[in-house]
Amino acid sequence: MPLTVYSADDTLTQVSTTGRRDMPMTRPLVDGRLDMTMMYAIHAALRRDLAALAVSAAAAGDDPDRLYATHVGWELFKRFLTIHHTSEDDSLWPSMRAAVAGRPDDLELLDAMEAEHGRIDPLIKALDEALADRESGHDRLGDITDALAHEVTRHLTHEETDALPLIGRVLPEEDWVKFGDLQRARVGMEAAPMYLPWLLDGAPADRVEGVLKYIPPQLHEPYRKVWRRSYAEQNPWSTEHREA
Ligand SMILES: [Fe+2]
Repeated sequence: MPLTVYSADDTLTQVSTTGRRDMPMTRPLVDGRLDMTMMYAIHAALRRDLAALAVSAAAAGDDPDRLYATHVGWELFKRFLTIHHTSEDDSLWPSMRAAVAGRPDDLELLDAMEAEHGRIDPLIKALDEALADRESGHDRLGDITDALAHEVTRHLTHEETDALPLIGRVLPEEDWVKFGDLQRARVGMEAAPMYLPWLLDGAPADRVEGVLKYIPPQLHEPYRKVWRRSYAEQNPWSTEHREA
């Protein structure tokens, strides 16, 4: 199915996506090991947004109307965090359980990964409720934001320190591909114009290059010439306008 995008000259064009609704990927191996570029890129984007959320929440303490100015950034963070975690819960952790069957310490680590996801979900709901509460939501925003940042940051670090090395050692390549395919399908091709600039906002050049290896070449030009600018113009966290 072709993806309709705005070209650099602002005309609508259609980009072939090789008939798939998700973004196809290249072989996920580097020097014979699973390539975790996308995983680290997503984690970096989540950390970046948590920092932006903290700034926004602090500003909202003085100006409750500012709560609403953070909605675009919050909706993107929530959407892509949820897709990432549910894809891990539905595909990655079950595959890992099979790969480490009979190894109690490793199974305990996977239990911890799922439990940490479970502690994050109610905080997302609480932040949604605070943002929707025009009367007193801003009073709660700071504490909820702190708790969310604490839980997500702790979880990402735990995953990177313990789970990703284990995944690298034991997970079959086809299961890593299956997890990546599920996550990309849930993001969906139609969201690519927003997802890709979100994922790479503020990323160093080597990470941008690493991620673009997994993106069909025909989407690179729309990303570089149009999508980044559109994303910056949406100004997701209502910070000072930044050039793409
Ligand atoms: Fe992750």
